[in-house]
Amino acid sequence: MQNNKRPENMERITTSELAQAFIAEQIAAIKTQVGDKKVLLALSGGVDSSVVAALLIRAIGKNLVCVHVNHGLLRKGEPEQVIQVFRHEMDANLVYVDAVDRFLNKLAGVAEPEQKRKIIGAEFIRVFEEEARKQEGIKFLAQGTIYPDILESGPVKAHHNVGGLPEDLQFELVEPLKFLFKDEVRVVGHELGLPDNMVYRQPFPGPGLGVRCVGAITRDRLEAVRESDAILREEFANAGLEGKVWQYFTIVPDFKTVGVKNNVRCFEWPVVLRAVNTRDAMTATVEDVPFALLQKITARITAEVPGVNRVLFDLTPKPTGTIEWE
Ligand code: XMP
Repeated sequence: MQNNKRPENMERITTSELAQAFIAEQIAAIKTQVGDKKVLLALSGGVDSSVVAALLIRAIGKNLVCVHVNHGLLRKGEPEQVIQVFRHEMDANLVYVDAVDRFLNKLAGVAEPEQKRKIIGAEFIRVFEEEARKQEGIKFLAQGTIYPDILESGPVKAHHNVGGLPEDLQFELVEPLKFLFKDEVRVVGHELGLPDNMVYRQPFPGPGLGVRCVGAITRDRLEAVRESDAILREEFANAGLEGKVWQYFTIVPDFKTVGVKNNVRCFEWPVVLRAVNTRDAMTATVEDVPFALLQKITARITAEVPGVNRVLFDLTPKPTGTIEWE
């Protein structure tokens, strides 16, 4: 049985010195655990898996095999950033899998939210498994498990688990972050030299933009979600709201309304903006976004995102609205 209780005397990692000590300790532990063997990691580019990757790269270099599956539901620039940071800057052994068509073909015509989640989760496991089998003889699997996942107090992963990883491959787990809380993971990630926009990023659901492209996903509407999300993030960053608002994103519903562009009637989608604050994601309040900023974002989205003629702001706290729309 693995020990799953954080040692009582473990100091909270709040400073760079404490993070350095943790990193040194974990590097030694990883080396002892895996020796000169290879370790596999599903690297999504989220905070936890990125920090695990950076730590293992320090410990075992190219014996860490990172697999980044692009399922087509990532935010704008994310797969590129994973390649840039891990392959080019950290010289990692990175397998990039372009599975966009596979996922979008499987999801075509599926409108029911939980069914969409199941398809994304199952397909993810299948793709990862295929890659794992190509890497012969790997016995170790690294995972970005953090302490709230173990405590199951985090409703996010426990409630919304998209799948998990292959069980029948019989891996021994390497989980260097399993006693850390999220803020500690960020301090460690920063200390490992990961870019701030990777370490301090807002939570992002496993099914990604798939649950923000309401109903059956189409490629054009998915692009509208991705482009509008990028504009929202850019404008929030410019306004100094990055890192201050807990989660903010856009949703594109699957209906159209009448509008007018360049004096011509058009029938296009609305984009919904959502910006919320919460402690534990069980309840949430709506961020009081300055009206001028909302107007600026509206102007940009309607001018720059094809197929969109309206922008709405979701004023609903949780409850009654959940944070995501499906
Ligand atoms: P809701 O919409 O339930 O969201 O109020 C609460 C938090 O959970 C995230 N979320 C998910 N995370 N897989 C995830 O990993 C999912 O399927 C999923 N659905 C929602 C949501 O972004 C918010 O932070």
